[in-house]
Amino acid sequence: MEIQQYAISKYPDVAEIYRKLDALISQPIRAVRQDKMQDVLNYFEKKCARSKALNDEAKQVIPGGVQHNLAFNYPFPIAVEKADGAFLWDADGNRYIDFLQAGGPTVLGSNYKPVRDKVMEMLQTCGPVTGLFHEYELKLANLVRRLMPANEMFRMLGSGTESVMAAIRAARTYTRHSKVIKAGGAYHGWSDQMVFGLHIPGTGRLEARGIPFGAGANTREFYPDSIASLKRQLILNRLAGGTAAVIVEPLGPESGTRPVHFDFNKKIRELCDEFGALLIFDEVVTGFRVGLGGAQGYFGVKPDLTIFGKCITGGYPMAGGVGGRADVIMSFAAGIGGKTGERAYIGGTLSANPLSCAAGYHAILEMERTNASVIAGRAGDRLAAGLQAIIDKHALPFVVYNTGSIVHLETTGVMLLDFRHPLRLAKELKPRKHMMEEMGAAYMANGLVTLAGSRMYTSMADTEEVIDDAIARFESVLTSVD
Ligand SMILES: Cc1ncc(COP(=O)(O)O)c(C=O)c1O
Repeated sequence: MEIQQYAISKYPDVAEIYRKLDALISQPIRAVRQDKMQDVLNYFEKKCARSKALNDEAKQVIPGGVQHNLAFNYPFPIAVEKADGAFLWDADGNRYIDFLQAGGPTVLGSNYKPVRDKVMEMLQTCGPVTGLFHEYELKLANLVRRLMPANEMFRMLGSGTESVMAAIRAARTYTRHSKVIKAGGAYHGWSDQMVFGLHIPGTGRLEARGIPFGAGANTREFYPDSIASLKRQLILNRLAGGTAAVIVEPLGPESGTRPVHFDFNKKIRELCDEFGALLIFDEVVTGFRVGLGGAQGYFGVKPDLTIFGKCITGGYPMAGGVGGRADVIMSFAAGIGGKTGERAYIGGTLSANPLSCAAGYHAILEMERTNASVIAGRAGDRLAAGLQAIIDKHALPFVVYNTGSIVHLETTGVMLLDFRHPLRLAKELKPRKHMMEEMGAAYMANGLVTLAGSRMYTSMADTEEVIDDAIARFESVLTSVD
């Protein structure tokens, strides 16, 4: 029997998804009924007292009382005490099925023992950091190259955000062009130049508080899934310093919240070659989750540079890295003897520390041994099919689709608003955002942790039993809407 290498069993019908999403945002919102919402708030009040007390205290010393953008703060964030496999437990002892999966890195499931054991071994010998070279750096770079051969060389960094900054710097050094083009709505970390057109296409500097105008002066966006829009931008840039790089998430912005047609990446590759721009794949989410060959392997498209994060350290700290063509990556050459004035300067005290490299190396090897991405993908298929059955049974307007272990459940459609319909955007943004918070809280009160109430990452730990239990819980929330 041939082993399936990628988590995506069938690429979604993108035109059909957009048709359904358009229908969803063209109609009034269907929020959780007020009486049911009261039950949700009662759950938090009565069952999450310790989380509430901790959050009240945290608000005195931590801005907003919570430090992760993916943590729900409505009505207040829960404090997590234990994580194991498919589950999380909060400080009051409540158990949740965990579909946030820390934002994506834990394809093996949370706190996976074989990787934890290797990390402990490392802590007992070398400790977490020395500032010098460790063999695990080499092992991880070799592993990345073996699984994704476009990454002839690999430089480990501290986060996806840093890696995007570094890749853009390398692209500018190599091409001597200045402009960078991203898809509208895409998130590529929070560096000055990338906080531009976040979440919603066309919003430009909407989230760029505290960032000087000049910082984003060379950033441009194109309309997601529109090759014509990208080409237009490349032509405009040609007259103004040229394009150093086009950066995209290969499944589309926000892990495919705005999905792209199957041949889209191939067309971007062709345009990059035509305009002398480098193609950067941001595989922070897709790298190893879509399969060990990444989205680049799945689509059969070779980027010049790849951004790694999340899975690159199997959920352990300091998850980032840039891989790619040796002639481009060489501009990062580090060490005291690096070429002053010629290299693309990057750094990081804790970058490429032995702990992160060992964790990533063993996590990815374990994923290979267990076929974790494919198993997690099957769980995603089962979850999406179960949710679709609920939507059909109750004639709900909601939209569900998945690419393997990345499952989208759009009930509000807030991320699909855009500047093409400015009046609708102005009128609908706030209520749909609030509904998203309410949905997230309602899922949580029913024992489900999601990403922003609209996305679920599955893992190898999600057995059929876990998924079926989750589907029943989703049904009770989805049938409590107006
Ligand atoms: C596609 C993508 N790129 C970049 C980043 C930034 O990575 P980090 O949070 O490690 O800085 C993220 C984070 O979620 C992401 O999803």
